[in-house]
Amino acid sequence: MSSTKVLDNQNIRLQGSIVVPGDKSISHRSIMFGAIAKGKTTVSGFLLGEDCLSTIDCFRKLGVNIEVNGTDVTIQSDGMDNWKEPKEVLYTGNSGTTTRLMLGILSGTHLHTVMTGDASIGKRPMRRVTDPLRLMGAKIAGRENGQYTPLAIQGTKLKAIDYTMPVASAQVKSAILLAGLRAEGTTIVREKEISRDHTERMLKQFGANIEVQEGIISFQGGQQLQATHVNVPGDISSAAFFLVAGAITPNSEITMENVGVNPTRAGILEVLEKMGADITVTIEDEHAAEPTATITIRSSSLQATTIEGEIIPRLIDEIPIIALLATQAQGTTVIRNAEELKVKETDRITAVVTELKKLGANIEATDDGMVIHGPTALGGGQLQSYGDHRIGMMSVVASFISSSPIQIDDTDCIAVSYPSFFDHVRELKNEIY
Ligand code: S3P
Repeated sequence: MSSTKVLDNQNIRLQGSIVVPGDKSISHRSIMFGAIAKGKTTVSGFLLGEDCLSTIDCFRKLGVNIEVNGTDVTIQSDGMDNWKEPKEVLYTGNSGTTTRLMLGILSGTHLHTVMTGDASIGKRPMRRVTDPLRLMGAKIAGRENGQYTPLAIQGTKLKAIDYTMPVASAQVKSAILLAGLRAEGTTIVREKEISRDHTERMLKQFGANIEVQEGIISFQGGQQLQATHVNVPGDISSAAFFLVAGAITPNSEITMENVGVNPTRAGILEVLEKMGADITVTIEDEHAAEPTATITIRSSSLQATTIEGEIIPRLIDEIPIIALLATQAQGTTVIRNAEELKVKETDRITAVVTELKKLGANIEATDDGMVIHGPTALGGGQLQSYGDHRIGMMSVVASFISSSPIQIDDTDCIAVSYPSFFDHVRELKNEIY
């Protein structure tokens, strides 16, 4: 397998400051919105992760001019009415966000397009998006009646829907809202549990009129987006790995600036506080389109907790690393209502439980989460990432507290969301003796 790494991190502590890369969800959306709007959109702090590069690649194939200069991106678009019909298949790589949001965007264009991704994307459910889009009139064909890629989309005229979300999913919500941009009438999305709201915030930033009230989003079709500047904050889902690393690795102290702390994403901060972590969050800019903070974490003793209900969508991507955190906490941590983990880049309930057990953790899978008894000292072992960036990074963080080396089979996948992850590990790592 490619990029096997042996991590020999015994007797280390983590100390210093890092700036985590740009938020993945917001980076994707900045390209999509910039391509939809007529004119020049500029983006700073863009994440050069593989997933976001897949989004750029798809829009280039639609004829949108996108220039990347470090983490600055310029999108020059003649508006979506002037996109070209691509001769090639749009390849979305490992990116669920690209695949699902593009379905919503492409459904209301004048174009025929075909989308496909890697082996993991080929297993991820798409009916959750194609079903509501079909209610809007979208013409989408794909394996198992539109459940799996490759998917063919024949753009057409759409009509608005009033849709109650059966699962808490920002990808589904965003696909419907982006289709709603081109639909006749007022699109309404009702959420029982609030998922990340980057699409709603960015629609406002691009000049759209959108109403959000107690989980009900209303949005009039036919609005034109105005090109603008997007400042992408650091990704709290990437910061999460070093928040946990700092909390569990003895004698550590890590500071991260410019971390996005949008409340629909910041559930991990609440969990860390509840578990007794030594954490300081200083808000930098409360009124920005996306609020940011400087966060410092120091190692401390931790107590178990229960994580369930409305907080789950606000920390869904952080559950693998929270599971590792819980192995070091006193007592029994219960995570429930998190069945969505089964349909991420891999089945993250099975992956987390299998891999942490190999290190000696006392952890069991349940139907909708896991139960972790702690604290347990972790040993070394041979771990798999399952090609999932977040499982790979969880395993690297485990090596900071394991009593002997950890070998991880495939760490290349980490570049999906955090290409500079190992540089940051090197910067923070101090040998104790
Ligand atoms: C994302 C939404 C979440 C998250 C994913 C990114 C987004 O997925 O897990 O990493 O950018 O909208 P769901 O909305 O499917 O839960």
